[in-house]
Amino acid sequence: MKLSTRAVLAACAALLPYASATIFYAGVAESGGEFGAWSATSEVGTGLPGRFGTDYAFISTSGVDAMADKHKINLYRVAFLLERMCPLSYGLGARFNETHFEHFKESIDYITKKKGAYAILDPHNYMRYNNPSSQPFSGSVIGNASDLTAATTAQFGAFWGELAKRFADNEKVIFGLMNEPHDMPSSLNLANLQAAIDGIRKTGAKNLILAPGNAWSGGHYWTKGGAEANSNWIHKLVDPLKNTAIDIHEYLDEDFSGSHTECTQDPAKNLAGVTAWLKEHKLKAFITEFGGSNTTACVKMLNDLLDYMANNEEYIGWTGWAAGPFWGSYSPCCTDQRQLGSFEPGSKAADGGPSLYDTIWVPVLSKKIPSKLQWSGISSVNGGELTSR
Ligand SMILES: *[C@@H]1O[C@H](CO)[C@@H](O)[C@H](O)[C@H]1NC(C)=O
Ligand SMILES: *[C@@H]1O[C@H](CO)[C@@H](O)[C@H](O)[C@H]1NC(C)=O
Ligand SMILES: *[C@@H]1O[C@H](CO)[C@@H](O)[C@H](O)[C@H]1NC(C)=O
Repeated sequence: MKLSTRAVLAACAALLPYASATIFYAGVAESGGEFGAWSATSEVGTGLPGRFGTDYAFISTSGVDAMADKHKINLYRVAFLLERMCPLSYGLGARFNETHFEHFKESIDYITKKKGAYAILDPHNYMRYNNPSSQPFSGSVIGNASDLTAATTAQFGAFWGELAKRFADNEKVIFGLMNEPHDMPSSLNLANLQAAIDGIRKTGAKNLILAPGNAWSGGHYWTKGGAEANSNWIHKLVDPLKNTAIDIHEYLDEDFSGSHTECTQDPAKNLAGVTAWLKEHKLKAFITEFGGSNTTACVKMLNDLLDYMANNEEYIGWTGWAAGPFWGSYSPCCTDQRQLGSFEPGSKAADGGPSLYDTIWVPVLSKKIPSKLQWSGISSVNGGELTSR
């Protein structure tokens, strides 16, 4: 049968229903700056300030090199701990530990200036400050007026104003306001995020901001939880520059925690609600944490999640969880059975076998890195010029 040109074009269009969707930023989360502060007995102050390079580190340059040179990623999300940037004796705010800041800046400069990629600054604090010894649950919720030991919303705004001022001249930096706020009123999450946006914009910084949802930023839960649902709150944020995107996390195991080996949660089905909300409010989103083990079901669902983001224009960026300098054979996800290593290039599983870098990053995530990404210009909800490397 001979098809007319028109019929062929129509058939192609049907196969590509979302041809306009674009991922501008793709890469990996670098976890390590928040390491070394956990205490089995919840002892306050454990690992503070910590020894840089021994208890914690932000990146390994060899790992970043491999990700950049081999896989051509243009985005790294770099975790740090608020209690190290702002020691407890200073309190949360504009006064930093300059030694700690310099180490952090060195890593961000390596990624953005040496490798030319974009970097998300990630205070890995669950909207809490003053006791990371039993993260993610310990510490006073920022802005909790009933807790005299809690840092205030204004202090959080001052902290972000200072951090933004220091990176405002680097257009490759993205301000990730907070990792996974949870178990707090959504009104307070909103107030804290607004204070941070106000603090950032007051400095003149134009960089992209990422605003996280409450309830661990779970995409599947975005429209759930009744009056507390993120879908009732987060679109109320006001950014005078309209350069704020939504920060979503989505794991694929039974309870969305990322702690189980098997993947059972269909991402397309579970993200339908938050995607509709993004569309309704004309917002863009990043999924800055997702991952899975090396089972057949996880490989399929991770592919489904990456395809879902590629096919829906609301999603413009992602970082897989996680690479980092100190994982060793430990795993950033799915550790209920055994330690499978991490996305860090060169890591190995505890049994000496291939790590998640070999079994998941290389064959699954790296295959979905678009050949063209944004490599210059300000980080933006609108993306920028797409070029290949
Ligand atoms: C600041 O950071 C450095 C390097 O980690 C550390 O040696 C020092 O004790 C810290 N200062 C405070 C006040 O935490
Ligand atoms: C705020 O602080 C009070 C007093 O310590 C505590 O009972 C309450 O649970 C805290 N609220 C949150 C959201 O943590
Ligand atoms: C996952 O990786 C580990 C470590 O290399 C290996 O022992 C295991 O057999 C792998 N599982 C699957 C389903 O491939």
